[in-house]
Amino acid sequence: MRFVCVTPNAAVDRILHLSQPRAPHGLNRVARAIESAGGKGMNVARVLRALGADVSVAGFLAGLNAARFEALLERDGLDGPFVRVTGETRECQIVVDGHGQPMEINDPGPLAEASDWERLAAGLPEGRLVISGSLPPGLSPEEFGRFLTVVAERRGEKPVVDTSGPFLVAAVAAGVALVKPNEHEIGLLSPGTADPIAAAHEAYARTGVPVLLTLGAAGAAYVGAEGAFVPAPAVDAVNPVASGDCLLAAFLWASAQAWPMAEALRLGVAAGAANARLGGGGRLSREEVFGQLPRVAQASVLG
Ligand SMILES: Nc1ncnc2c1ncn2[C@@H]1O[C@H](COP(=O)(O)OP(=O)(O)OP(=O)(O)O)[C@@H](O)[C@H]1O
Ligand SMILES: [Mg+2]
Repeated sequence: MRFVCVTPNAAVDRILHLSQPRAPHGLNRVARAIESAGGKGMNVARVLRALGADVSVAGFLAGLNAARFEALLERDGLDGPFVRVTGETRECQIVVDGHGQPMEINDPGPLAEASDWERLAAGLPEGRLVISGSLPPGLSPEEFGRFLTVVAERRGEKPVVDTSGPFLVAAVAAGVALVKPNEHEIGLLSPGTADPIAAAHEAYARTGVPVLLTLGAAGAAYVGAEGAFVPAPAVDAVNPVASGDCLLAAFLWASAQAWPMAEALRLGVAAGAANARLGGGGRLSREEVFGQLPRVAQASVLG
């Protein structure tokens, strides 16, 4: 099975390692800078490929950073259609000093308007469409909802969407195949329901859109025609950033192999834990994902 991983707001990620604690208002000298082709869809694509799937990536690129992004993409052995738009592909600076949480500084991204999204849709290869991350400026939530509906009609298959805020609400209203909120994002889908799993049930009952709900170190749940919860194994978490992307990729890969939902959820939880343990970023091998699987408890059925 082929997957098409769309990162609407692709980024040149720069992890800046400082050799001294960060000076919040002073000069910070960088000891080592590591650049990569970033964005949540890129993480999903890397994990899908590590598991053996055929993967294409897509999104928008602009300005001088477009060439940098494409060179980094090639280094990772990934490719796919990127639509040129106006402005500048963003840089995301992740400042790491070994003292607490990294500091992130993210550019807004280029301008991608409805006509650019139409060009993106027209050039997407065949395959299971997965759209991950925030959107660059230029598209309203209503326009995003229309884009999702049109793409589903044209491709004969609804996309999977992992985004946040009003765009997540719009994706659910458009009736996508699956959404992957975390414990903070689910609140937007069911305001007034404090418990995240109850909120996922409420959202599914109201909209018919299945919810893959991630709960950080607590684990993850799937709420759809069937429901299951899988607790996360205890790991020495170095950095869980992108664990949600890893979980989604492994869940989709296993589902495409016709694994039962509860087992696909377990593989997702294994991938999320492996990523948290190894330091984030979604650079996992198949062995690392499967190595965690025996440590993942059986799923419990949600009524
Ligand atoms: N500290 C941890 N220990 C073990 N497993 C973890 C840990 N943190 C996350 N996970 C696993 O990864 C999954 C996804 O994590 P989380 O809920 O933080 O996703 P997220 O907020 O969408 O992350 P991101 O958007 O950065 O990809 C969790 O459901 C869990 O299975
Ligand atoms: Mg997430």
